[in-house]
Amino acid sequence: MDIVPFGPDDAAALAAYVDLRNAVQEADSPWVHPLTVRQAEGHFRHGWDGEPDTPFLGTEAGVPVAFGTLSTSEYDNLHLAWVGCKVHPAHRRRGLGSQMLEAVVAAGRARGRTSFGVDAWESETSAAFAARHGFEPKSVAVNRRQVLTDIDFGELRARYDEARSFTREYELVRRAGATPDDELEAVAALSASINDAPTDDLDIEDEVFPPERIRAYEVAQQARGYRLYRVLARHRETGELAGHSVVVVDGERPELAEQHDTSVVGRHRGHRLGLLLKVDMNLWLRDVEPQIVSIDTWNAESNAHMVGVNEQLGYRVMGREIDYQRGVDRLSTDM
Ligand SMILES: CC(C)(COP(=O)(O)OP(=O)(O)OC[C@H]1O[C@@H](n2cnc3c(N)ncnc32)[C@H](O)[C@@H]1OP(=O)(O)O)[C@@H](O)C(=O)NCCC(=O)NCCS
Repeated sequence: MDIVPFGPDDAAALAAYVDLRNAVQEADSPWVHPLTVRQAEGHFRHGWDGEPDTPFLGTEAGVPVAFGTLSTSEYDNLHLAWVGCKVHPAHRRRGLGSQMLEAVVAAGRARGRTSFGVDAWESETSAAFAARHGFEPKSVAVNRRQVLTDIDFGELRARYDEARSFTREYELVRRAGATPDDELEAVAALSASINDAPTDDLDIEDEVFPPERIRAYEVAQQARGYRLYRVLARHRETGELAGHSVVVVDGERPELAEQHDTSVVGRHRGHRLGLLLKVDMNLWLRDVEPQIVSIDTWNAESNAHMVGVNEQLGYRVMGREIDYQRGVDRLSTDM
């Protein structure tokens, strides 16, 4: 198999990647919305917050059969590379997955990374493959989906009113699009509270959120064609930002939305702000983006508080994703 990295300007490689990824998804996670070329192009040009993954295409006699990805950050976790490795269902069990994994790990090492993470939908295949390459399961992320036609908005409103009675000390601020310059620092400080979400046995450091990273996130998401909605809770007495929740709507397929961060600062927890923020987002989006059909979210399975809120809001489990990691101690014996 020939393995070559490619970039967002390589239309042929992008198209091959999208076809491959959709074939893999159809086989392993059929509920996941098919990827479009535009999404892939945006992903590899802008990333989540301006640090795009590097994709690799594997071909045999010109036929695309596998792909890999390498993702590293310069903000934090300088020891870590997160990699992806997927093989077309018709070409499995011939060693191609192992070759691709070796290639992306080598590319990660060339960037000085010593620990490698990879995630996969829960299956015997991925578990066996991961174990074969010395990766251990460290955490479980669950993909849930809220289907808006299933939601009783009268009930949602009642939950809002109930939560509101516990949160009178806070005002809610709805913000479409980018954060104003004068609030960027406060939103950055607030964003760091996502580090309190459980990471289980993963060897990862807290993420750092300088204001420029928040701006880079907003610029990247909007450049990718996502419309950005943020609900903030502000403590009335001190003016402090106490929590927020962010949802993006796909401009290309506006019936699809995705939940990004929701977090409440430690000292403001226990007042039902998490629930309030998310319900307010639902009520707001119903007015301004009434075409949305579903909102997807991902949480650590062990994140009881956030999962509890999501279950109350009608989110249903779609799939379990296992996060595997392999540390520096495996370097001499791997592959
Ligand atoms: C996992 C995946 C990448 C494996 O690709 P592949 O090309 O079939 O893998 P390889 O042929 O290199 O397999 C290497 C070893 O992994 C293990 N393995 C792979 N598939 C397996 C399966 N279905 N059952 C049991 N063991 C398996 C075996 O030990 C195998 O060696 P062997 O064939 O000599 O017994 C592929 O099934 C895939 O794309 N799955 C979906 C995405 C995914 O799970 N990615 C990996 C994340 S950990």
